[in-house]
Amino acid sequence: MKRIALLGATGSIGRQAQEIIAAHPGLELCAAASGSRAVDGLAPLTQVGGDLTELLERAEPDLVLNAVVGFAGLPATLWALEGGVDLALANKESLVAAGELALEAQRRGGGRLIPVDSEHSAAFQCLEARPPEQVHSLVLTASGGPFRDQTRDELSDVTPEEALAHPTWSMGPKITVDSATLANKGLELIEAHFLFGLPYEQIDVVVHPSSIVHALVRFRDGASLAHLGYPDMRVPISFALTYPERSATPISPLDLAAGMTLEFYAPDVDTFPLLALAREAGVRGGSAPCVFNAANEVAVAAFLERRLPFLGIAEVVEETLATADTSAARDLDDLITANADARRLAEGTLKVA
Ligand SMILES: NC(=O)c1ccc[n+]([C@@H]2O[C@H](COP(=O)([O-])OP(=O)(O)OC[C@H]3O[C@@H](n4cnc5c(N)ncnc54)[C@H](OP(=O)(O)O)[C@@H]3O)[C@@H](O)[C@H]2O)c1
Repeated sequence: MKRIALLGATGSIGRQAQEIIAAHPGLELCAAASGSRAVDGLAPLTQVGGDLTELLERAEPDLVLNAVVGFAGLPATLWALEGGVDLALANKESLVAAGELALEAQRRGGGRLIPVDSEHSAAFQCLEARPPEQVHSLVLTASGGPFRDQTRDELSDVTPEEALAHPTWSMGPKITVDSATLANKGLELIEAHFLFGLPYEQIDVVVHPSSIVHALVRFRDGASLAHLGYPDMRVPISFALTYPERSATPISPLDLAAGMTLEFYAPDVDTFPLLALAREAGVRGGSAPCVFNAANEVAVAAFLERRLPFLGIAEVVEETLATADTSAARDLDDLITANADARRLAEGTLKVA
């Protein structure tokens, strides 16, 4: 029996994970946590808010599924990696903010880091742990979000309701807005850099509106392997929870004969500058990815509260990156400071705007 601690149990990923765990006789919940909504009775140990690592210490799980949204997921990610406990990671923000520290912790701890993000799960499966030198490049696909064919002018007055209407994925509000701005793909680019040890110039992003191909790896011998499936997060969640087994899920296999065309095109980084800003932050290194993430979290929250227009999200991130100290963090305390400073700077930008 694999004992799972589910963090972010009330969210989109958390609820789908509960479904997968309930249907699998080899999986059981030993702990469940949320930020504010009730989780009573979901697992033998539960916690709402507070220090998630205290819950993990008590629960002694075989695997942590970190499905918390935002920087708040970071201590749990580091706890699992440091302690050699297998980590199924949906909380991309923690790896973006703390990539170097997380990899060092994993080297010390020795546990598995299994991505839950669909693109990274797909790349993980195509790569089969092959070393970076065998890889020509990795391609992450992006649905393009609800505004993919719109011009900058058309985006000036979009509402939170319009941004939250994602065409292919049903997700929590923060990642849905990130998908609409392409910040999500920027976060995923940085996440992929750390997960697979590839330099940024070997990671491409293409828009693929139907979200059938989740990722593609081009190898140095000329072969390319892609991962295909209907867009349903229960597939990568199940893969991460049952790895290295591949368990049955209720999701249908692809029906190619039903008529399927796969369309790909380059992202419009002028209309959606957050993708290019994320790439710049990743290349700059140090705590720049942490600053990118912090400013984006502040700006998305302000947009959802109608304190900032949609196009203002990228402006806040750009200004914060231009002014923040992005020197490398030596430890978690440094990173917590970098995150708090960047959030303050971003909030200041909002007041001026
Ligand atoms: N949804 C997807 O399809 C998808 C796909 C790929 C990756 N991801 C990533 O997975 C993560 C979760 O996404 P989501 O869409 O499931 O988000 P969501 O629906 O907004 O759920 C977020 C979860 O995090 C919990 N939470 C927030 N702050 C917390 C804190 N301080 N301590 C403990 N729990 C806290 C929330 O609890 P409350 O409900 O009590 O607030 C909720 O359970 C994000 O990093 C996202 O980028 C999601």
